[in-house]
Amino acid sequence: MNEHRDVNIMDQDTVKARLGKPNRYLRPKDTAAALTALFWEEFELSRAVLGWVPAVKEFETKGQTARFGYLHNQHAKLLYARTGELPGPSLEKQPPPAYVREAFERSSLAPSEAAFFAGYTVMLRRLYDGYEALQYKLDPILDAPTLDVLRMIVLDRQAMLTWAHDQIFFAGSDNAAIAEEVAAWQRYVDQVWHCYDRQAPRESGSTIQWPIHPEVEAFGPVPSDSAWNAERFPIHIFTGQYKTAYEDPSMSVLHDSIKQMHYINATEMGAAESLCYLYYGAQLLPKPFYFDLARHLWDEVRHCQMGVRRLEQMGYTTSQFKYFKGSPGKGLQDLAAEWFPDMYAGLTMVAEPCSFIKKRKSAEQFWNFDDGLSAIHCEFDMADERMHVDFGKVWGPELYKQINNIITAAEMSERARIRRIEELGAASTDEEARKIAKNFPGFCGLSTVELNYSNY
Ligand SMILES: [Fe+2]
Ligand SMILES: [Fe+2]
Repeated sequence: MNEHRDVNIMDQDTVKARLGKPNRYLRPKDTAAALTALFWEEFELSRAVLGWVPAVKEFETKGQTARFGYLHNQHAKLLYARTGELPGPSLEKQPPPAYVREAFERSSLAPSEAAFFAGYTVMLRRLYDGYEALQYKLDPILDAPTLDVLRMIVLDRQAMLTWAHDQIFFAGSDNAAIAEEVAAWQRYVDQVWHCYDRQAPRESGSTIQWPIHPEVEAFGPVPSDSAWNAERFPIHIFTGQYKTAYEDPSMSVLHDSIKQMHYINATEMGAAESLCYLYYGAQLLPKPFYFDLARHLWDEVRHCQMGVRRLEQMGYTTSQFKYFKGSPGKGLQDLAAEWFPDMYAGLTMVAEPCSFIKKRKSAEQFWNFDDGLSAIHCEFDMADERMHVDFGKVWGPELYKQINNIITAAEMSERARIRRIEELGAASTDEEARKIAKNFPGFCGLSTVELNYSNY
């Protein structure tokens, strides 16, 4: 732990007090300032890591990357809650400090997945050094609630560092060029944080002299086309012949069975990826939006993992099915502003509520077929989806508000359904589209295909 980092987490008063007279105790506002600095680092790290999820190729690595992005977000949530109990400026409305965002953006514009993980180990180690330094400054009684928060956060340290470190070796161990690229990137990220720790602005207006950014093309975060192992998880090509979701029988060898539900779950990495673009791209929303969104996208990864695991338990291989990526096919800066709220409303107001009917029927039938595990999959899935629909009702209108489109949750829901009806070509007039959108079970029957519940 270097002395610069040590000073960096104190506020001005504390630094002056320390220089003037020896006082090793932190006042509540000093603790709040230290937690605020750590909050921004966790928050920006969650953005970098979740932004990298679509740029990671292998299924297992993608899932674990999403898991860690979610954990960074949850650490930020714990820090946010504790900061709110202490005096000092509220985090609620604050934007991320520009120099913090820049440090994380510089460190995450890596030329390859392995290089990103090499930089990630630098950021992780440094962040956890910060937690450790703070722990040893806190009073065990006065700061007990803060120490409890730090104790929970520190629990993830070893698993994260070990896993991130392993990724570098998997990618670069037998290829000298990759190993050199990874080492060079890690050196650069080291320099970024060295500059940050020595120069982090303590007054507004001061700037950091950053190291020269390497002349490499960034592979992530948020690539316009997501990285994917298409041999293990073949991509479905939309031919236009089938419009209703999952109607095309060539997508799944289980299209005529209730087990199709597991296949549908296995395709949810696409939804998780789309939400990663939203997490990375959405600026200046209330902090609870990011806490809910990270939970939502992590749940979609879990649904995908549970689907893949059950298919494999049943003797199928993932290559017998077709999948969808969640990438928008354009760079974030080239996307229409509506892409974000429209995607989010489509997911939370159409796909997720429509999935309840299938999931409820599937759970009942799986119990009848004496397949308790499959039934319980559907039951957890429903519990999660119910929460996601609630998230959508709160945050969908907020996202529309950001593009100056003031809309209620009910209007948003109707519009999302009408967009889906238009995609399906299911109505010849606006009047007819509105009528179909109002009849919810009928609308869902159009939007997504029914399963053959009687065939196990
Ligand atoms: Fe899901
Ligand atoms: Fe969901």
